Amino acid sequence: MARPSVWLMRDYHDPKIEAYLSEHCEVVVRQSNITPPHEDIVKMASECDGFLPEGIDIIDAEVLDSASRLKVIGNRAVGTDNVDIPAATRNGVILTNTPGILQDACADMTFALLLSFARQVTRSDRAIRAGKWTVFDQTPYLGLDAYNKTLGIFGFGGIGQKVARRAAGFDMRVIYYSRSRKPEAEAELGAEWAGDMETLLRESDYLCLHCPLTDETRGLMGEEEFAMMKPASVLVNMARGPVVQQEALYEALAANVIAGAAIDVTDPEPIPLDDPLLTLENLVITPHIGSASAATFTAMGMMAARSIVAALTGEPVENMVNPEALANR
Ligand code: NAP
Ligand code: GLV
Repeated sequence: MARPSVWLMRDYHDPKIEAYLSEHCEVVVRQSNITPPHEDIVKMASECDGFLPEGIDIIDAEVLDSASRLKVIGNRAVGTDNVDIPAATRNGVILTNTPGILQDACADMTFALLLSFARQVTRSDRAIRAGKWTVFDQTPYLGLDAYNKTLGIFGFGGIGQKVARRAAGFDMRVIYYSRSRKPEAEAELGAEWAGDMETLLRESDYLCLHCPLTDETRGLMGEEEFAMMKPASVLVNMARGPVVQQEALYEALAANVIAGAAIDVTDPEPIPLDDPLLTLENLVITPHIGSASAATFTAMGMMAARSIVAALTGEPVENMVNPEALANR
């Protein structure tokens, strides 16, 4: 019987991943580090049984409805907003993701961003390189404290709860809002249920976003929401760019409605160099690297590869996002 075929959609993965896939499948490695053109994704869905994409590769209904061969998408991401899940399900295509293993890396990075803005790390680094450290004078870089402040978390799942755990070490008060209340996590982490979004916005000194991008969360943070935040507060976006209305964020930062923002994600990605956000000194920005420690990068790739192989060899599949797809295979 012919071996199944898997499309590894980037050429930068740890060689272990291709080697593991090759034990079970034919592997087609795309020789590129950028997202494939849509027409290539459409074509490959009729030539390969499995895809190993990044979480920014759009796999929409056009791809899925015309796919004559695709059976499994092993997203190398926990977020699944890049895939049209109902279309995958009706076409019997299994979608898997990478929960759990990236939570600590993302929580570390959330604190890296928070502290970078609070204590002016990236701005003062830029200033030194621009030749501006000519005298001992701390006053241009006076920052905000993290300790004893209130950390608000929107989306109290895997990553949000790991962030709360770290906040305890900074003697922060933690409040959260999520789709559902989590009494056990509250007790374990000393976190308080905010009760509603408005309370979260009004009481947070640092507001961290850790929700998925869905119809409910798209555009969550706009002019009205920024206006409810404290003038000295900081937004940290570790979720997805479109959760924040980017023009409203620019206006809020430019007018000092809030003190600053530290964002790992934008809309679109990469952010165009002429985006006005990049002119602001009260913004820290990183290129969607929340999970990107070297170890977590490889662990996510291996988890995606294992799920693909399991789906194609009839073994139980971990981390299935749409188990209902099995009924349509
Ligand atoms: P998770 O464990 O599924 O947690 C998501 C949390 O968001 C859950 O607590 C969920 O509430 C809450 N939520 C969902 N919809 C909501 C809504 N409409 N209103 C309020 N809360 C809502 O996921 P995770 O592993 O923590 O990851 C969260 C997201 O982070 C991912 O989906 C991805 O978009 C993003 N992410 C970004 C990076 C990066 O590199 N920047 C890396 C990894 C992940 P319930 O628990 O009540 O369902
Ligand atoms: C990264 O953004 C992920 O969703 O894992």
